[in-house]
Amino acid sequence: MKNEKLKELLQEMTLKEKIFQLVQIPGRFFLENTEDTGTAVEDSLTPEELHLTGCTLSVYGAKDLRSIQEDCVKNHPHHIPILFMADIIHGYRTIYPMPLAQGAMFDDDLTEKLCAMAAEEMRLGGVHVTFAPMLDLVRDARWGRIMESTGEDPMLNCRLAKATVKGFRAGEDEEPGKQGVASCIKHFAAYGAAEAGRDYTNTEVSEHTLREYYLKSYKAAIDSGADMVMTSFNTLNGMPATGNRWLMKQVLRKEWGFDGVLISDWGAIGEMVNHGVCKDLREAAKLAIENGVDIDMCSLAYARNLEDLVLSGEVDEALVDESCMRVLKLKNKLGLFEDPYRGADAAAEETNILSAEHRALARRAVTESLVLLKNDGGKEKLLPLGKGEKLAFVGPYAQSRELHSMWAIAGREEDCISIRAAAEEAASEEGFAAEFAPGAGMTRREDLATDSQESAIEKVRHGSYEPALAPDAEAEKLLAEAVKAAGRADKVIVCIGEHRRMSGEGASRTDLTIPEPQMKLLESVYAVNKNIVTVVFGGRPLDLRKVCMYSKAVMFAWMPGTEGGHGILDVLTGKCDPSGALSVTMPYCVGQAPICYNHYSTGRAKPYDTEYPIFISAYIDTPTGPLFPFGYGLSYTEFAVSEVKLTTESAVRACGTLTKAEACITNKGEREGTAVVQLYIRDDVSSTIRPVKELKGYQRISLAPGETKKAVFEITEEMLAFVNANNEFAAEAGSFTVYIGLDSDTQNSAKFTLE
Ligand code: BGC
Repeated sequence: MKNEKLKELLQEMTLKEKIFQLVQIPGRFFLENTEDTGTAVEDSLTPEELHLTGCTLSVYGAKDLRSIQEDCVKNHPHHIPILFMADIIHGYRTIYPMPLAQGAMFDDDLTEKLCAMAAEEMRLGGVHVTFAPMLDLVRDARWGRIMESTGEDPMLNCRLAKATVKGFRAGEDEEPGKQGVASCIKHFAAYGAAEAGRDYTNTEVSEHTLREYYLKSYKAAIDSGADMVMTSFNTLNGMPATGNRWLMKQVLRKEWGFDGVLISDWGAIGEMVNHGVCKDLREAAKLAIENGVDIDMCSLAYARNLEDLVLSGEVDEALVDESCMRVLKLKNKLGLFEDPYRGADAAAEETNILSAEHRALARRAVTESLVLLKNDGGKEKLLPLGKGEKLAFVGPYAQSRELHSMWAIAGREEDCISIRAAAEEAASEEGFAAEFAPGAGMTRREDLATDSQESAIEKVRHGSYEPALAPDAEAEKLLAEAVKAAGRADKVIVCIGEHRRMSGEGASRTDLTIPEPQMKLLESVYAVNKNIVTVVFGGRPLDLRKVCMYSKAVMFAWMPGTEGGHGILDVLTGKCDPSGALSVTMPYCVGQAPICYNHYSTGRAKPYDTEYPIFISAYIDTPTGPLFPFGYGLSYTEFAVSEVKLTTESAVRACGTLTKAEACITNKGEREGTAVVQLYIRDDVSSTIRPVKELKGYQRISLAPGETKKAVFEITEEMLAFVNANNEFAAEAGSFTVYIGLDSDTQNSAKFTLE
């Protein structure tokens, strides 16, 4: 439809019709209450209002969505189609590794392919917009939503944001309005800085730090064509993000020129009443629309108050028109006026999703995202597994198919390949014998939630120490079976970790260890067999101190998705080299959180050789550094990185390349392998404090045994720029240290001067 036509349509719409384009309600209300729509939502939308509603969320599947669309288009006075949105975070039905694991792939191209695959499945399932990518920079492992982000580094997040948006839009340029899906980036802004890692809480982040770390990835996604932005639940510097004028008007709309649709997070307009900055939903609706929030997700603040606010002259109708136009434009861009069903196809949904090709791509992603943290033993290394070995796979994850994060909303457990299923498939080809025993349950009740937080506190204040409960006979039996199997094996693969409900929204933790029954299993196995490979599952970085001490090899598997078992076996058996690198720092213990490699320089940094950490920026009771740094990940082969060479050691300002940093990477081992080669830069002296080191480039380089390849990184003036003391984004003359290595701890460097 031409823009002129859209304007005419807007003029023909009543105020109420325009307002209802700004209302989003869960799609199930259309399905469950067709007979009784009067009670569809708490505040009762009438059947007429349901048909006026602009968009839904969280329903998917071509059959249902086509029937909702048919009903709405038929009954809407102007036959305006409805927009279907859903949280497709790491796949629709073919679930690939969770976003933090995607970060660990350091692979833009594969990320783009995975998102294009998800978009294809979504489109067949009738979904138009995905609430992804989540671009919150994360540093605090206690925060359950850390799993939804690609990690702690602004540059990695920016590159993957671009790849994700591009992947979701795949085919759009060739066939506008027919292919791909729109992305709604979230959560604007700085949700990842939530105080003490607690969800839905406050953040205090200076403008300088926001611009230097937190805002970059949202901007990158917008520049790559993201059509929507979602506000966040947190407050930012004293104001809920959803009513934050500076964020939305100044940064998003004015500085970045974003003219797409801004949607609140779920109920977040209404939550401004709980935050105490609005007296009631009416005030909240006014604050949100005045700050440019176009769609109200699920609070009904707009549905019940905007009309009156406009009629009483408190809100300018032009604001409603502006927001409504943005929504209509998005519908138009997606081609919904021409084809409201837009690719939703129940038959193709049955055959095309979860196809062999899709599964193969998800499997490859698992192998690229697994991070090998430890593989000790010289020639006696436990991994890869060898031919003819007798293996015991123990632990709840040895046979669990709960391999999705909580955000795989359309994913199904029954589609997942467990480690057991994959090992049974691989056994004859790889020539190993395997037995399986769960050994322990995944969690105890208290690992997920205490029934009453008050009573937990009361118990400690006024109760007395309760001796351990009598042993649970069932648990003891499980454990004994696993220990027996472990005792008979050459090697034991212990598959343990967090349950998927222990991370994600609302799942903050104060303890980063693996649930106790599983740790007991690991300890008990250690008592009978020291040849332990531990495969750890988790939605966040975990405290792996004990895991590392009990295991000769440790592999971090995140929440790997549908093809988890296959991908893990591919790596365990050595069919694929492990090539993931940590997208987030793995702390030594929970007390270090928040922690990141790219922190600002301090006045009293810990020198490398200090033994007595006092009067310096360090802990006196634990190491200050992490257990494993950002960027870390081993291979089955060994790589050597040569000294850093610069094509020129000083340069004057230029818009192109200032210099090139190069290093040769050699595969010194006897197997093929892939290294994630990383470029970091430190600004040695500048007008404001700077990070001790910042990632500025990365490349995945595959090498045959004995092969050497050169990693070449171009350094541009923009890469050296930062928000300086005058609040300008610019590079300052002076010296820079340029590092090339295989993790963020690398000291392999050379000096460069910007004249
Ligand atoms: C989450 C968002 C999500 C929305 C819709 C909210 O609770 O914070 O990330 O997109 O629900 O499901």
